[in-house]
Amino acid sequence: MQAKDIVYLNGEFCPRAEARVSVEDRAFVFGDGVYEVLRAINGRLFATRFHNDRLRRSLDGIRISLEESDSPERFAEIGSQLLRENGLTQGEATVYMQVSRGVATRLHNFPSPSVPPTVYISVARFKPYSDLAQSGATAITHPDLRWGRCDLKTLNLLPNVLAAQTAKERGAFEAMLIRDGVVTEGAKTNFFGVVDGSLRTHPCDNHILPGITRAVLRDLATDLNITLDETPIKESEIPRLSELFLTGTTTDVMPVVKLDDRLVGNGKPGELTRRLQKVLAESLASGGS
Ligand code: PDD
Repeated sequence: MQAKDIVYLNGEFCPRAEARVSVEDRAFVFGDGVYEVLRAINGRLFATRFHNDRLRRSLDGIRISLEESDSPERFAEIGSQLLRENGLTQGEATVYMQVSRGVATRLHNFPSPSVPPTVYISVARFKPYSDLAQSGATAITHPDLRWGRCDLKTLNLLPNVLAAQTAKERGAFEAMLIRDGVVTEGAKTNFFGVVDGSLRTHPCDNHILPGITRAVLRDLATDLNITLDETPIKESEIPRLSELFLTGTTTDVMPVVKLDDRLVGNGKPGELTRRLQKVLAESLASGGS
């Protein structure tokens, strides 16, 4: 934890240890809210516009209206301010933003009259998984037990938490989720694979989170004339994978070299994976979009 530990809660900057949220907050009682995680390098937020758009979409998707003075853009400014306040303007950090439907006596339907949303923003030092990025990580397959709106970045992460814990207990870095016989995404990442020479990933529909790293990488791949085929990888195609990797704000492009105790390809990070890893690293270093 950084020396100063200042967070933002509902209009106030205060030490983390002093930040207080009601036990009747809808995030606490129902997981009724949305969140974002952004990457900051040397005090600069990466792909802010993409994150702002996704946050707006998540808020609309679960019908939370921000106060008039609030906006995703304002939250990004607060995130930058927190980086400064906490001495995180050099090196790597993450910014976490969470908006819940607010505080009200427990009733499933929305509070009526409506209450102000609870807004919480915090920052943390971040250490990239540099060694794993070189050697490659391991993953397990796991059933995708989530709901029908995985495109919204909501606080309801129980199936993700359980899948991540199973992966950890099996010594793996990530769980690759399977729904109706196809690979959807990871517990906290998007998955890409090479089958019969073509780079494939699940299309952006209601079964996956439209990852910001996924979107950035897609553009970078286009610049390299690499075609991304958004046809989901079938479970039956898994044995034919010659490369596999995952993407995310806190994982970048991470090669996956072992899946369910079987080597992927020759058990080393693949050539395409390495190329994409390199261009994403360059984009991050240059401040990105
Ligand atoms: N996870 N899929 C899921 C289910 C995720 O939770 C995430 C991000 C991603 C990758 O999205 P992005 O490239 O925008 O980080 C895909 C964040 C980092 C988290 O929950 O901590």
